[in-house]
Amino acid sequence: MSRDKAFYLTTPIYYVNDAPHIGHAYTTTAGDVLTRWHRQRGERVWFLTGVDEHGQKVMRTAEANGVAPQEWADRLVESAWLPVLETIDAANDDFIRTTSTRHTERVQGFLQRLKDAGEIYEGTYDGPYCVACEEFKLPGDLVDGEGEHAGQKVCPIHGRPVEQVSETNWFFRLSAYAEPLLRHYEDNPTAVAPLSAYNEVVSFLRGGLQDLSISRSTFDWGIPVPWDPSQVVYVWFDALLNYATAVGLGDEEGTPGAEQFASTWPADVHLVGKDILRFHAVIWPAMLMAAGLPLPGQVFAHGWLLVGGEKMSKTKLTGISPDQIVDHVGSDAFRYYFLRAIQFGSDGSFSWEDMSARYTAELANGLGNLASRAAAMVGKYRDGALPEATAYSDAELTLQSLLAETAATADECVLRLDFAGGIAAVKAFIDAVNLYVTEQEPWALAKDEANAQRLSTVLYTICESLRAIAVLYHPLMPKATASLWEQLGADVALGPIGEQPVQTAGEWGRLPAGARVTKGAILFPRLEDPVE
Ligand code: ME8
Ligand code: MG
Repeated sequence: MSRDKAFYLTTPIYYVNDAPHIGHAYTTTAGDVLTRWHRQRGERVWFLTGVDEHGQKVMRTAEANGVAPQEWADRLVESAWLPVLETIDAANDDFIRTTSTRHTERVQGFLQRLKDAGEIYEGTYDGPYCVACEEFKLPGDLVDGEGEHAGQKVCPIHGRPVEQVSETNWFFRLSAYAEPLLRHYEDNPTAVAPLSAYNEVVSFLRGGLQDLSISRSTFDWGIPVPWDPSQVVYVWFDALLNYATAVGLGDEEGTPGAEQFASTWPADVHLVGKDILRFHAVIWPAMLMAAGLPLPGQVFAHGWLLVGGEKMSKTKLTGISPDQIVDHVGSDAFRYYFLRAIQFGSDGSFSWEDMSARYTAELANGLGNLASRAAAMVGKYRDGALPEATAYSDAELTLQSLLAETAATADECVLRLDFAGGIAAVKAFIDAVNLYVTEQEPWALAKDEANAQRLSTVLYTICESLRAIAVLYHPLMPKATASLWEQLGADVALGPIGEQPVQTAGEWGRLPAGARVTKGAILFPRLEDPVE
């Protein structure tokens, strides 16, 4: 890998059949935290997200709403999919739309290249198709329907009947790639994560692969097949390519596109929900192999946010809007809650009660209170100038070594996408600092001038601990930590918080004595109405 290749992370591109719910925001949030972490390690980063606009699902929704699909997509992108990035405070570098020319032209170029290489042939498809998944199913994939669909075979993800498709289409020789993919995954055991996802993919591949129909002839909402404009490209073939078209796939050498491709591809991590694991870990790498392109470093399949034990879904209209939560607790707490409360890779349920309880205990009382007490005490006892620590006692030395350990653990956890593990480590450190404050009783030390040096050491220790906490939590909670950073006077003393390397966050003594500590806005105000 060339030294200046960016750390490249992608989210799925989401269907614009409806507005985003917290499931979509969950993936994008995780991607945002991970890319901010890598940026704070001093790496060059490229973070891509976007939307998937073609296919029957979007086309039918548009029809049902009486507008053309392009107009529907434009409307949803402007009113919902771009705004949600602001809502959750995502700092993506790019946003790809599959109806954009940069995408459609490069998809056509790629398809032609596979055709010329003999990877594509004409055939007939006859079998079940789930429009909600936009997926050709094998009869064995289907389950017995319940309720209104009793007696029918339905899609196991959407619980809805499938449609029978019978068309002459263009096919991709996917079956040729089962063996090469198995070898690839044997050689690269972390190329699919977590382990449960890896095992699923390997056992699926062991069952062999069938060739894939990659075009549709019965509707026209898609990218025309370059040599046969009576067909449009199958929406997944189109959509998966976004990861490469967005960074210049196929552009001629010497062009900006080619340069970007060389310094960005392959993706380091494709973040996806487990619903779309096979597309990403089977079809996508096979497409890349067929074109002779390098494969992504990892596909990470996270779990589902559940509602009543089932996957929250646009199709089933069970979504909670991210706005609803962010309006109540703010974007930082939104980001914190989902990555703290659910082990990344496992399913989890959202509950207002659990979120309110954690907000109050861990953010308002745990971190917020520590920060406001620190600023108040430095203000009251030292006129807002951070005092110098003189002689450290065991209590401080213990905190210092815990901090070094915490920073190392957090880095190690986040790099393997164990966000909950990283947060738990920082939270344990915050608890230890709060305990330290209780035990050292700076307010009692302040009563006797003879304890002045000791008080200075204690105040310094609290503020320096907060300095490290701010750096380690910045990728997770950018707004509150930026405010904390200012309150510590660290922006003036050390520069912008986003430029503080996480690798040295655990080193003691970085915040210089004399920094101007001020009491700013409360980081996590009490919830007005703790439970909805
Ligand atoms: O599948 N829990 O788009 P999509 C957690 N366009 N994550 C969830 C979720 C839930 N209940 N619901 C959705 C598509 N997600 C295709 C992708 S990529 C080349 C094309 C998240 O709108 C999760 O990341 O159905 C999931 O994989 C994705 O949204 C599916 O979004
Ligand atoms: Mg879906």
